[in-house]
Amino acid sequence: MTETSTQADMTVVVTGASGRSGRRVAEAARAAGLTVRAASRATGFDWRDRSTWADVLRGADAAYLAHPTDVGAPDAAGAVGALAREAAGLGVRRLVLLSARGEEQARPTEEALGEAGVDWTVVRAAWFAQNFSEGPLVEELRERGELVFPAGAVGEPFVDLRDVADVVVSALTSGERYAGQVLEVSGPRLLTFGEAVAGIAKETGRALTYRPVTPQEYGENLAGFGVPEEEVAFLVELFGSLLDGRNARLSDGVREVLGRAPRDFGDFVREEAASGTWVPDPSGRG
Ligand SMILES: NC(=O)c1ccc[n+]([C@@H]2O[C@H](COP(=O)([O-])OP(=O)(O)OC[C@H]3O[C@@H](n4cnc5c(N)ncnc54)[C@H](OP(=O)(O)O)[C@@H]3O)[C@@H](O)[C@H]2O)c1
Repeated sequence: MTETSTQADMTVVVTGASGRSGRRVAEAARAAGLTVRAASRATGFDWRDRSTWADVLRGADAAYLAHPTDVGAPDAAGAVGALAREAAGLGVRRLVLLSARGEEQARPTEEALGEAGVDWTVVRAAWFAQNFSEGPLVEELRERGELVFPAGAVGEPFVDLRDVADVVVSALTSGERYAGQVLEVSGPRLLTFGEAVAGIAKETGRALTYRPVTPQEYGENLAGFGVPEEEVAFLVELFGSLLDGRNARLSDGVREVLGRAPRDFGDFVREEAASGTWVPDPSGRG
């Protein structure tokens, strides 16, 4: 694929295609005219089973990599490096990895991608705005009206996943333009988790609150929900570092790549509130 060739004949593998980022990358890729090959366990692709990789990668031009459950998880560097080498061997020319801003634990994964012998781009994202509308944090906010999280009063520029997806698709389709680059993407302004929840409360007319806890208290809560000990230890260390103030800054990757401002958190909240995201389940089952 060159910058001048059409995208109509470009096939892109989208890992995590049923997840939060992958779903939007698949949508943006289809909208750009690409052929999307959705890859997750539901379609027979398993990051933990290398025998499932070749069938998904063979014949593809590019791939989007979102490693579950975290790009800095202990097994991520090995898996991403091995998959990237396999992709290179099968003729896949461009890989775009979703990573996280300020996450030291993710650097070995990024390095493993860079050493695989294939054109690569790393997209380091801020916290997703959609963490408030999809995924593990949503239920307690919607059903119990409270978000318990170890984010203190630190500012975070929540990024809309639609912007992340547009940046990813640009990196997949822009030839050499973003090869070998790390693109950091964030939303347009810093908000504390308390301000984010207050914004959702105002828009929904509900008495929603944010209760900051220490990473250790948060870990104890997770352990109480049956999260395995190793995962709890990883998350306590991860959140303790990611939310210590190092990420309380804006990044200009959305404007740099897309030539426009990133979507604002307030717009995300208005759209999700209008579609009933934070309306509690009347049956109480959540
Ligand atoms: N949350 C944030 O704010 C944030 C910020 C920056 C970066 N990130 C990074 O985002 C990545 C997660 O992406 P996401 O939030 O879009 O994912 P997600 O919503 O958690 O969805 C996970 C996806 O991965 C698939 N999956 C899970 N286990 C799998 C396996 N063993 N093999 C193959 N596919 C598997 C799931 O589908 P199946 O169940 O069908 O397999 C699903 O499509 C992580 O690497 C994280 O570090 C997150």
